[in-house]
Amino acid sequence: MSKSTSLDPKDSESKRLPIYRHKDRLIQAVRDGSFLVVTGETGSGKTTQLPQYLHQAGFCKDGKIGITQPRRVAAITVAQRVAQEMRCTLGREVGYQVRFDDCSTHDTVVKYMTDGCLLREILADPALSQYSVVILDEVHERSLNTDILLGLLKKNFSNPAKATKGRSFPLRVVVMSATLETDKLSSFLGNCPVFTIPGRNFPVTCTFGSAVGPKDTESTAYVKEVVKMALDVHTSEMAGDILVFLTGQSEIERACDLLYEKAESIDYRYDVQDQTVEGLLILPLYGSMPTDQQRQIFQPPPPRIRKCVVATNIAATSLTINGIKYIIDSGFVKQLNHNSRVGMDILEVVPISKSEAQQRAGRAGRTSEGKCFRIYTKEFWEKCMPEYTVPEIQRTSLTAVILVLKCLGVHDVIRFPYLDPPEERFILEALKQLYQFDAIDRRGRVTHLGEMMVEFPLHPGLTRAILKAASLGCQDLLLPVAAMLSVENIFIRPGHPEKQKEADTKHRALAAKSGSMNDFATLLSVFHSCKSSDRPSTWCKENWIHWRALKSAFSVETQLREILHRLQQKKDFPVEIFDGNKNELFRRCLCTGYFTNVARRSVGKVFCTMDGHGSMVHIHPSSSLFDQEAELNWVIFHDVLVTSRVYIRTVCPIRYEWVKDLLPKLHEVDVYELSSVAREEVTDEEMIKWETREAAKRQPEASAEDVM
Ligand code: CDP
Ligand code: MG
Repeated sequence: MSKSTSLDPKDSESKRLPIYRHKDRLIQAVRDGSFLVVTGETGSGKTTQLPQYLHQAGFCKDGKIGITQPRRVAAITVAQRVAQEMRCTLGREVGYQVRFDDCSTHDTVVKYMTDGCLLREILADPALSQYSVVILDEVHERSLNTDILLGLLKKNFSNPAKATKGRSFPLRVVVMSATLETDKLSSFLGNCPVFTIPGRNFPVTCTFGSAVGPKDTESTAYVKEVVKMALDVHTSEMAGDILVFLTGQSEIERACDLLYEKAESIDYRYDVQDQTVEGLLILPLYGSMPTDQQRQIFQPPPPRIRKCVVATNIAATSLTINGIKYIIDSGFVKQLNHNSRVGMDILEVVPISKSEAQQRAGRAGRTSEGKCFRIYTKEFWEKCMPEYTVPEIQRTSLTAVILVLKCLGVHDVIRFPYLDPPEERFILEALKQLYQFDAIDRRGRVTHLGEMMVEFPLHPGLTRAILKAASLGCQDLLLPVAAMLSVENIFIRPGHPEKQKEADTKHRALAAKSGSMNDFATLLSVFHSCKSSDRPSTWCKENWIHWRALKSAFSVETQLREILHRLQQKKDFPVEIFDGNKNELFRRCLCTGYFTNVARRSVGKVFCTMDGHGSMVHIHPSSSLFDQEAELNWVIFHDVLVTSRVYIRTVCPIRYEWVKDLLPKLHEVDVYELSSVAREEVTDEEMIKWETREAAKRQPEASAEDVM
């Protein structure tokens, strides 16, 4: 690798970043102790520069530098940028790893990765022996995995006596955060030093709008409104780029379409205030878009052209776009929340917090004074927006991370060092689910099945269905389905009504082709039809299927197959026999993973879930079973969508007798009894007492024969 010369514009750019003046002191601070908190405004250069400084200072002699990001896009684009700055090929000295996409090799010494990936590495190697430095980045985002990593690193590495276990030299841990919660972080990490990168932000004037008020928390009218606002800014404000905050891919695409359309009709001789502005460059930015397109976002626009980036919350802190002077804030964000009405995690569009709104506004004041246009009213701000965003650990399902902790030998998951502890009932809920999936036993210890389940970066239910299928020798039915459910939505939904009709017809034909009215079978059939087609991308186009999503599904399937293959090599992999037909076999395997998501027809088109919540649900119109409800009695489903109704999506008809033996498991243990095993190892005596009590309780339930 050659050293950068000062002629390189990127080099001088990086020397202008606020972090540059503190380079030597920062390196020293990392050297001095095992834990360090680094804080500084977004855009000061923490993510891209600090790893390079440490690399230059020789920290890679003993091991790698690992930097975690809560978002996969951030991990990828930042790695690209740093590889460019270090003038090396991405995947060599500088690489990245995100779920189902590993672009790193043995040579990689600066490795960007999602927090979920580092968690998996800890599972395989708790001492993190390959690393000399681990940097937890974007800690202020408070993602679930980052919070768990914080606790684990504290637990494993803050006690000097234990810290070098399995290592030949101490690990350096750097925790980076944009906001000022640093005192809390420092005291959590044993009062470790805090390094503040001073930086100044220019004032940003914020104005409230009139389009979204307290009654509009569930409408999506804000898309039109942000478009209108963006055009207003474009025509009436001086030169400077625009950043629009929306919530997700489909509405970003819709907003961009609208913007293209409207921008066409602007007459630059008369309509715009600033005569140096002669065009609008519209760029979408969301998580699942191809990375080469994402790169364009960071490039300065051509002369006299104004750039308008329409982004998800990813542009709030993880990615800094230079040149932004105007912010248009929709006031909403898409967030994964546990919905107690249906007892599941659901992606919801919710109002952002006030602190989030301030962060968004701040993006306009990096290099000069800026303006932020909020489309919501002052009343909306006061009544609908909470002060702070609740950390993910306090609002989503903990099932997967609790299994990881259990596999790492953390028995007491309640007294684990959480920066902000989740409510105890969420932990117990997770234990209950793990028990239902047979991942832990009644004493809260990981089972053999649990140890296998943790190997898959999937929801435990889906993993369980795969393992069941594998034991029956029919993994080929389940692996493609799991892959298809792990990528973004594969069915294209065009905005235009005519085109939508055409897409619907094609999708219905695909469902019919699978031979059985079962949405999981449709996924399987689409997977194979596309794979075996001569020209898969054309096939996708003709059938209104996202080719990019399917391509990732192919790769995900291969990776899942490899994980499974590794497990099957072991002697104790279970083998079972089944002598029914393939269709039944497929659905029965699904049942072992989805018996927590069983619904039974109640009246008319209404179904009732069987998980104890007894929610009333409807089959979503996108399902091939929509309109077929009259013939169905029992179904399983992959997920739910909550609007004014609760819809179940990706649905499969089943027979009651396939879940009859599984359903009692849903009510076998209650969370209060789990709370005792959650804290401490249970003695045999206590266990016998408990089991007797349980058996007595189960008696009446076993006799309650259900109707078919
Ligand atoms: O981490 P922090 O927010 O402190 O800053 P950073 O992400 O390291 O960003 C430093 C600079 O690198 C900013 O000016 C970004 O615009 C730039 N950058 C870029 O041009 N391309 C990327 N893919 C990432 C960052
Ligand atoms: Mg950063």
